[in-house]
Amino acid sequence: MSRLILVTGGAGFIGSHTVDLLVARGDTVRVLDALIPPVHQAGIWPAYLADGVQRIHGNVEDPATLRDALDGVDAVIHLAAYQDYLPNFSKFFHVNAAGTALLYELLVAEPTLRRNLQKVVVATSQAVFGEGRYLCPVHGVQFPGQRTSAQLEASDWEPRCPVGGEPMVPQATREDDPPRPHNPYGISKLSQELIALNLGARYDIPTVAMRYSITQGPRQSFTNPYSGALRIFVQRVLHGRSPVVYEDGMQLRDYVPVWDVARANLLALDDARANFRALNVGGGKAITVLDYAQVVSRGLQVPVSTEVPGRFRVGDTRHILSDISGLRSLGWEPVHSLEEAATAYATWAQAQPGFRDYSEQGFRTMTDQGVLRDAH
Ligand SMILES: NC(=O)c1ccc[n+]([C@@H]2O[C@H](COP(=O)([O-])OP(=O)(O)OC[C@H]3O[C@@H](n4cnc5c(N)ncnc54)[C@H](O)[C@@H]3O)[C@@H](O)[C@H]2O)c1
Repeated sequence: MSRLILVTGGAGFIGSHTVDLLVARGDTVRVLDALIPPVHQAGIWPAYLADGVQRIHGNVEDPATLRDALDGVDAVIHLAAYQDYLPNFSKFFHVNAAGTALLYELLVAEPTLRRNLQKVVVATSQAVFGEGRYLCPVHGVQFPGQRTSAQLEASDWEPRCPVGGEPMVPQATREDDPPRPHNPYGISKLSQELIALNLGARYDIPTVAMRYSITQGPRQSFTNPYSGALRIFVQRVLHGRSPVVYEDGMQLRDYVPVWDVARANLLALDDARANFRALNVGGGKAITVLDYAQVVSRGLQVPVSTEVPGRFRVGDTRHILSDISGLRSLGWEPVHSLEEAATAYATWAQAQPGFRDYSEQGFRTMTDQGVLRDAH
């Protein structure tokens, strides 16, 4: 039976792929999106958004707009968020935490909005873990805090055991491991997750929090400095420049293709076993950033040599990997390759008006704001 699904942030990267799957299976989709720069050209709906979707141009922080968007829906996938590395700290909390609290506030205040509502899926992030789980050979499992500026300025990249200072081995972080976010984005995402899961449980609104790992694929905004490695690597490679990696490039990540993330969102929507849980959505494989540059090289069929100038971003995690056994036990598995995501991103980006290499501009902005720094 066709259902009406509200997707906030549905004009964005993960949102639009999720919308495609919903439309393909016959759901009616309503998108609420503020269409804000630098993700979009202000106020312009992207051409990739599926036809036939109900479109509301508006802000999730605005009660009247959000209330109208919620009217008559069977489920909500709440993806609208502010993501950046810039030091406008309060904005993360206004959009990501307060926007989510408002969603529940409206649902609780007006029972008619909950008449058909079966599920709320909220997008949180792997960033809630901060540095995540490590194994110290002497003191066992550890969850270190953030690295200090002095450590990073000395090109001393690896977190040390908080108990005895020993080198440690990064591990996949489990869903029930303690979250220790250390940048405003991660802290706002943890707030969002706590708000959604707690209010969902209290008011009997089935809720699922999806902790995506770094997601890659087409429609990832090429003008948003936040959208990471694939965007920068492809822009530079296609303009005859080498990818620039931060730190020494040996950071481990578990990138996940966007099509797999969209499938996970539908599973969370449909499967009652996901209710009231925070689920990790990762690629399931650890890869260094340097090796990821070679994934891009294979995807684009262009030889790539990387630049490692010893710069670092304040607030970055050294290694972060998510244990995905929770979603696997519900029948989900990442099935797309990172090469496929890189090829599809490059093909899509090159066909967009305004596609060029924005990387130097992004580096300059982050340097001016004190976010991107040189190690000594
Ligand atoms: N892309 C990733 O690697 C990643 C990783 C972890 C978590 N996430 C989370 O997944 C969700 C989707 O991310 P994405 O990569 O698709 O981002 P995106 O920037 O491509 O999409 C977000 C959309 O939300 C809209 N938006 C932003 N603020 C809004 C507001 N106040 N009101 C209404 N709309 C607003 C934007 O215009 C945009 O279309 C976000 O919640 C993000 O925090 C993404």
